[in-house]
Amino acid sequence: MSLAKKDIISMRDFSRNEIDLILKKAEELEPFARGRKTGKLDGKILAMLFYEPSTRTRLSFETAMKRLGGDAIDMVSTEASSVAKGETLADTIRVIEGYADAILLRHPKEGAARMAADFSSVPVINAGDGAGHHPTQTLLDLYTIKRESNLKDLSIALVGDLKYGRTVHSLTYALALFGANIWLVSPEQLRMPASIKNDLIHSGVGLRETTSLAEAIDQVDVLYMTRIQKERFPDPSEYQKVAGTYRITMEILENVREHLIIMHPLPRVDEISPDVDSTKFAKYFKQSFYGIPVRMAILSMVMED
Ligand code: NCD
Repeated sequence: MSLAKKDIISMRDFSRNEIDLILKKAEELEPFARGRKTGKLDGKILAMLFYEPSTRTRLSFETAMKRLGGDAIDMVSTEASSVAKGETLADTIRVIEGYADAILLRHPKEGAARMAADFSSVPVINAGDGAGHHPTQTLLDLYTIKRESNLKDLSIALVGDLKYGRTVHSLTYALALFGANIWLVSPEQLRMPASIKNDLIHSGVGLRETTSLAEAIDQVDVLYMTRIQKERFPDPSEYQKVAGTYRITMEILENVREHLIIMHPLPRVDEISPDVDSTKFAKYFKQSFYGIPVRMAILSMVMED
């Protein structure tokens, strides 16, 4: 089994074996994620095209590439590139494939990464397509759970914006492969899309849906908080109705499981009170660090000759 030259578009394209392989590779590469360099991707170039804001995804991919001895080129912003002159995504991809060995793409439109992959002769990695998917985030989420908790017999609550949140869309598909018990906790208006829920039900996963965080919080090993995706709301007044619905505070954590871990793909707005950061439960900053070894694993497997 090899991921060489494979596009990374959606977790639905991955088998359990492929996921296990990537997580194992990430473990091997973790010592190289802080400081030590390896020449595995010597001479290789990753092109980073971000049509939406990013801090962690862009910088962790760039770091991962450099730690592997390769390099990254960056479109910087849509305003500073030919996108501002009206160039289509298809044309941009056709040009960039001649500059790089793989393309990392974040785009506001669902399906953009799949379309880019159709035009590209080099592998395309989806760094988030609108409210669609964010598979590399899921792989680092799984790695975090593996390292800080346990992927076996896992009970997890996905909390917040399950409608527009691409991280939870990708994560649910992967969790189904691990036979997790999943609590979907969201306001009525931000429920997980029915198409994803149907897929989950067919996979035989244990699924509960509620608007009440209190109902789920003492039943789970992992609390996966998400930001309400303000930028995806067609009407700002609808956002105001749900903003600040769930907030993790010290009081709420009183009756949780001893070994609970709290995760968040970040950035947070007000979902987690800052005084929770210093508790043993908080793993979200560690989670963002794990983006380095996991993205090193993905890059080295996709770009290997
Ligand atoms: C997430 C995203 O872009 O979907 N951020 C990330 O990559 N860590 C989550 C978010 O923006 O809320």
